[in-house]
Amino acid sequence: MLLGAVGGKLRPLQSDVFAVTQAMLALPLRCLPGTRFRRGLHARKRIMAALREEMAARNHHHHHHDLLSVLMQRRQLGHPDALTEDQILDNMLTLIIAGQVTTATAITWMVKYLSDNRLIQDKLRAEAFRLELKGDYSLTMQHLNAMDYAYKAVKESLRMATIVSWFPRVALKDCQVAGFHIKKDWILNIDARSLHYDPDVFDNPTVFDPSRFDEEGEGDDAKLGRAQQQKRRLLVFGAGGRTCLGMNHAKIMMLIFLHRLLTNFRWEMADDDPPLRNGNVPRLKNDAPSAHTHPQFLIMFQIN
Ligand code: HEM
Repeated sequence: MLLGAVGGKLRPLQSDVFAVTQAMLALPLRCLPGTRFRRGLHARKRIMAALREEMAARNHHHHHHDLLSVLMQRRQLGHPDALTEDQILDNMLTLIIAGQVTTATAITWMVKYLSDNRLIQDKLRAEAFRLELKGDYSLTMQHLNAMDYAYKAVKESLRMATIVSWFPRVALKDCQVAGFHIKKDWILNIDARSLHYDPDVFDNPTVFDPSRFDEEGEGDDAKLGRAQQQKRRLLVFGAGGRTCLGMNHAKIMMLIFLHRLLTNFRWEMADDDPPLRNGNVPRLKNDAPSAHTHPQFLIMFQIN
């Protein structure tokens, strides 16, 4: 979608994309060799060179149907608000990191949670088969809207995994939050993970339970109040004016992936307790999240 079939050519750059995500939250030690930040800068250069090469190749071949082509065509046709070459490159890298790494990681965790929770997996499978889709079908919005429990499972996976653990904001004026005095221009970090694991809002927060979202829109005042609280505190895609641009796209991708997986496979973790790797995006140690576009993604799971 971003880069069409060329995605394969860029696969060797996966570790560079990871290095850039690591550098984003590192101390900006530009001049010291071997630092995370510097490794990220070098990685970014290699990614940009590969994208630039791809753009040069496309100047002669116009048969791609993806975002890169759309942006390039607007430029070639002299559209008044067309992006410059550097802006196109920047946007592509932003979308690779903001859209690809996040969604791949979220899907991986969802598959793991469902491997750990077979009853929920079976309930989801039953819902998927109730749609009675046969043969070579395409999923429509109508189908997606009928995946009520799957949607809750997607939400619950996003809560438990909290792919973006925290995000920053700058205070525009002096203010007070929960008794704390915040001065203008201070940078605050919203700790989304702590909110998502707050037992006062999410009962048994370490338990994977899509049904915790059942009460949204129904029940007595106490239940509705609780549901409202959950809604306000669930910040998997951020909040306010900078809320994730790809939020709906990501949820739809997760739903479609889940549906295809449930209706074609049963799976279990090859390793019951894969350790976590430190970093700003929670990952399994075997690097599975970054490989989800490749068939080998399934190596970490045993498919029956
Ligand atoms: C499960 C997948 C995803 C998660 C968990 C996620 C999460 C986030 C979060 C937490 C933010 C920061 C929001 C804030 O500061 O309030 C963000 C921003 C952003 N996301 Fe996503 N995202 C996902 C998928 C995507 C996709 C698929 C795209 C694009 C195709 C995308 C594009 C963006 C962009 C462009 C921003 C910056 C928005 C801005 O600053 O105005 N994201 N995302």
